[in-house]
Amino acid sequence: MKISVIVGTRPEIIKMSPIIRECERAQLEYFILHTGQHYSYNMDRVFFEQLELPKPRYNLDVGSGAHAEQTGKILMGVEKILVKEKPDVVLVEGDTNTVLAGALAAAKLHIAVGHVEAGLRSYDRSMPEEINRVLTDHCSDLLFAPTEASKDILLHEGLPEKNIFVTGNTIVDAVFQNMKLAAKKEHIFEEIKLKKSAYFLVTTHRQENVDDHDRFSGILQGLQQLRKDYNLPVVYPLHPRARKKLEEFHFDAEGITLIEPLDYLSFLQLERHAKLVLTDSGGVQEETCILGVPCVTLRDNTERPETVDVGSNVLAGTNPRNIVNAVVRMNRRNKKWENPLGDGTTGAKIVQILREDL
Ligand code: UD1
Ligand code: UDP
Repeated sequence: MKISVIVGTRPEIIKMSPIIRECERAQLEYFILHTGQHYSYNMDRVFFEQLELPKPRYNLDVGSGAHAEQTGKILMGVEKILVKEKPDVVLVEGDTNTVLAGALAAAKLHIAVGHVEAGLRSYDRSMPEEINRVLTDHCSDLLFAPTEASKDILLHEGLPEKNIFVTGNTIVDAVFQNMKLAAKKEHIFEEIKLKKSAYFLVTTHRQENVDDHDRFSGILQGLQQLRKDYNLPVVYPLHPRARKKLEEFHFDAEGITLIEPLDYLSFLQLERHAKLVLTDSGGVQEETCILGVPCVTLRDNTERPETVDVGSNVLAGTNPRNIVNAVVRMNRRNKKWENPLGDGTTGAKIVQILREDL
């Protein structure tokens, strides 16, 4: 059995890492195909180096661009490689343009597609990710759903039960595998002058937030208010999309500690010891739930409702007053909840299913 593992962006590299490690351990025939959707050192190579992942056999270097342009370039590039390599299965993870194009290229060549993190829905079709998720699920042969709820969504959409496997989410494996190593990153607190449990950590990068003047402005005002109310640092590692928009809109981020995107271990360390995390990231909603850190999501919906149900996460949108109120509410909450996203063996489960099914 030959496996093609497709990655393109930061979260895909992180969430595929447990599967790649498992392929290595089981000495399976596989190769990594990187689309190059993310390419800056701190959005890409740092994760390969730090997680000690093998170099991709191919990198399409597609870079940034409008949706159709980026998706089209990936589609064309992936097709050529799949025709040459003839893998038995292509694995994609998540909901990016890389995922949709990778799955579509494989499906048209009648190569089996395995979708890791299948069955997530925000029910907001204005998000590029929602379109990517739905279409990818519907052209996949193996659907690796993180939870029973995501399996139910897939069944409800008419996808065959025999193709669906509830495996948990590989992000749990990634957190468990890297948490000990992250503890060695203590110096990050000195570097940014932070005291454990006495800062807020922020990430935002969603197109519908940072590309929208009013929504991005609302988020920044909410963060500035938090800085004043709590007199605590608000640390925000800026995703490149957010940096570009911040500059374009000439926003004033006074009072907010803006830093470059962090490597995974440093970010995990900051997440674990934050008083609370504010985010619009999918992966960060999950990681905070796993790490026992309260999360306020700067969105009107989430495709990760399990985190809200267990009490680790609350939706605040982008109105400054709602953001501050959500932080107050989360701070009062009991911080003990069960992690509903898996037990850290998702990578092994997925590889086992591939071995049995193909
Ligand atoms: C993409 C995904 C999003 C995912 C996110 C993870 C899609 C539609 N979006 O969003 O679902 O949550 O990745 O972080 O697939 N840029 C750089 N360096 C890089 C990459 C991007 O400077 O390495 C800048 C460029 O200015 C680019 C912008 O960021 O135009 C956006 O990059 P893009 O890959 O289009 O989307 P993301 O916002 O990163
Ligand atoms: N992350 C990181 N450094 C940072 C910010 C985030 O390593 O400065 C990690 C984070 O731990 C998580 C992943 O990036 O595993 C989330 O990626 P992102 O928010 O870009 O995408 P999403 O999950 O929303 O698709």
